[in-house]
Amino acid sequence: MSMTTKATMSVPLLDLKAQYTDLKTEIDDAVRRVMESTRFIGGPEVTGLEEEVARYSQCSNAVACASGTDALLLALWALGIGPGDEVITTAYSFFASAGTIANNGATPVFVDIDPRTYNIDVHKIEAAITPRTKAIMPVHLYGQCADMTSILALAERRKVWVIEDAAQAIGSEWEGRRAGSMGDYGCFSFFPSKNLGGAGDGGMIVTNNAEYADRARLLCNHGARPKYYHALIGTNSRLDSLQAAILRVKLKHLDRWSEKRAQNAKLYDSLFEGSRVGRPFKDARSRHIYNQYVVRHERRDELKKHLDERGIGNEIYYPVPLHRQQCFAPLGYREGDMPQSEAAAKETLALPIYPELTEDQIRHVAATVREFADS
Ligand SMILES: Cc1ncc(COP(=O)(O)O)c(C=O)c1O
Repeated sequence: MSMTTKATMSVPLLDLKAQYTDLKTEIDDAVRRVMESTRFIGGPEVTGLEEEVARYSQCSNAVACASGTDALLLALWALGIGPGDEVITTAYSFFASAGTIANNGATPVFVDIDPRTYNIDVHKIEAAITPRTKAIMPVHLYGQCADMTSILALAERRKVWVIEDAAQAIGSEWEGRRAGSMGDYGCFSFFPSKNLGGAGDGGMIVTNNAEYADRARLLCNHGARPKYYHALIGTNSRLDSLQAAILRVKLKHLDRWSEKRAQNAKLYDSLFEGSRVGRPFKDARSRHIYNQYVVRHERRDELKKHLDERGIGNEIYYPVPLHRQQCFAPLGYREGDMPQSEAAAKETLALPIYPELTEDQIRHVAATVREFADS
């Protein structure tokens, strides 16, 4: 590559066009298949995807729904969690982890994170349990599982449910067990930027408990069984057949993509060796699927500006920890309550990690980061 090309090379945070180009024939065929069948709601594409994701996630049941947010909402709802109840979750995640708890009328109780993995600090959960606690919702952030051995043992001992927010972690593992299969419910998102992303919104609930699956399925279809007979008050949260057909095509490539992301991460790790930029920590007990590759630097905002100016895609996940979100002010948390989450919100930055990245692009991103970080 010539020096002039390299100097001006920009790298997006994500390149969904590259993925589509790669799979165009298969995806276009799948879309045509649904259009010609005119089976737009339910049908074989949706049930096919449910079976395939269930198998992929080591679960006996899967229920497709309209988004990852709805998957969490429905799981909490199906367990009857509502006003007066508390659900423990991490202070550092996408908003939906906490928003869904509040939307069910329950109270999110935040726990700080382990600064190495950015996942909930399992040593701090028990102190947050009260007689009102109904569930723990660990989030497998960035594609790496939280310490499920500790969480499951605690939940068993304290008789609370576990809902895994596996929105970023399909295919991730904890000691050989797949994300979503370990708790009472596991919730996935098919938001386009996820490792398995649709052409729009989508989500899925997985569980090894047939009764729990049945309840979630009823709730996401207005509680109707049979049609027009409503045993429960539910809602309309379904996955479109078009999305299901596209996701079935993509699922076949998911392991290859997640492996490629892990290889990209390994290359970044080696390129950041000896740098002042903090590399992501990989727990040996986890299969990390690198939905995000998140680095750390004390002057993160300046690093971000440096990358922005040079056309290197990057994103802050997340600039405000959940306990400091304006909407949760009534819960009474203060600055300093969750120091690790607060520090992560100030110091972390996600870099491009998508599978189609070339080695040249990765080297260029790493060099641009080091140019700032080590200066
Ligand atoms: C950790 C986490 N939880 C929940 C969600 C919600 O998923 P969706 O955007 O599909 O509603 C997301 C996705 O953005 C997420 O990253």
